[in-house]
Amino acid sequence: TFQPRIFSGIQPSGGLTLGNYLGALKRFVEKQEEGIETIYCLVDMHAITVWQDPAKLRQQTREGAAAFIAAGIDPKRSILFNQSQVSAHAELAWIFNCVARMGWMSRMTQWKDKTAGKNAEAASLGLFAYPALMAADILAYHATMVPVGEDQKQHLELTRDIAIKFNNDYGVDFFPVVEPLIEGAATRVMSLRDGTRKMSKSDPSDQSRINLTDDAETIAAKIRKAKTDPDPLPATVEGLKDRPEARNLVNIYSALSGQSVEAVISEFAGAQFGTFKPRLVDLAVAALSPITNEMNRLMADPAEIDRILGDGADRADAIARPILEQVYDITGM
Ligand code: ADP
Ligand code: NA
Repeated sequence: TFQPRIFSGIQPSGGLTLGNYLGALKRFVEKQEEGIETIYCLVDMHAITVWQDPAKLRQQTREGAAAFIAAGIDPKRSILFNQSQVSAHAELAWIFNCVARMGWMSRMTQWKDKTAGKNAEAASLGLFAYPALMAADILAYHATMVPVGEDQKQHLELTRDIAIKFNNDYGVDFFPVVEPLIEGAATRVMSLRDGTRKMSKSDPSDQSRINLTDDAETIAAKIRKAKTDPDPLPATVEGLKDRPEARNLVNIYSALSGQSVEAVISEFAGAQFGTFKPRLVDLAVAALSPITNEMNRLMADPAEIDRILGDGADRADAIARPILEQVYDITGM
């Protein structure tokens, strides 16, 4: 049996979005408050699976750390660090590259989406192998639970497959079979440009995303411009079924307000988006502006952020290194 331990990560591949906040960061804080051991990581080695400008990557890693802290992660109670500073991730990933099968990787929908219509032969080998590194991130800590958005579900199933295959191949009960925690109204926040693609920091073609660093006017303008259909809000939750844009805005409202989707619908039944959107703006600004302000304050002292990340890396390494030593022993190395 494994003690309950939470691990999750965010790529410093751009500024964090409202999707990252509602689907991940806000829930990371809730888990910390539940008193479970929580380990959170800026996964810079995942970010470089597609090209990253070095100076920007360094800046975005610090900004990501500032966002974690500003959102409520306490670097004393949680471990907060940068992936590349703990070499166990890369070392265990290599072993998992030898456990995972090519066929498993080629069935990952994110790999297929990211290479769709492009020359897959020109994609980096790292982009293909990314889920094995993600499995290493989690299993290097014997983490048992992983809070993530819906988009990571398939990768977590692969993490389970890798743990099971490793245990079977070597005849051990060494790695836990992790449980994905995909919960709440905002497990998949969609783009405000159309309701069919997820809001993502790593999609440079979509400028409609709400960033944690946006000021109140920018947030208001983006929500005002959010695509909707011409109908008023429905009287029942079922009425959102074939209305992806409306459903997305209601889900965001629900996640920001802490009200159920049913409660939001009963409050706004029959209302026009011209009435609903300003209320959504108020909620979004109230949630994000304290985070933005605190991020700006923290970013004024990058050396302090580096110190916090360095301390987190030492504490992460103290957990991961002994586990990795056992893996080397199990595998005969
Ligand atoms: P991105 O796709 O924005 O680059 P990451 O791959 O770094 O984000 O994911 C970081 C975390 O944020 C993951 O747990 C992921 O599931 C979650 N996440 C990303 N986008 C969304 C979204 N639009 N809605 C909900 N959660 C999201
Ligand atoms: Na992603």
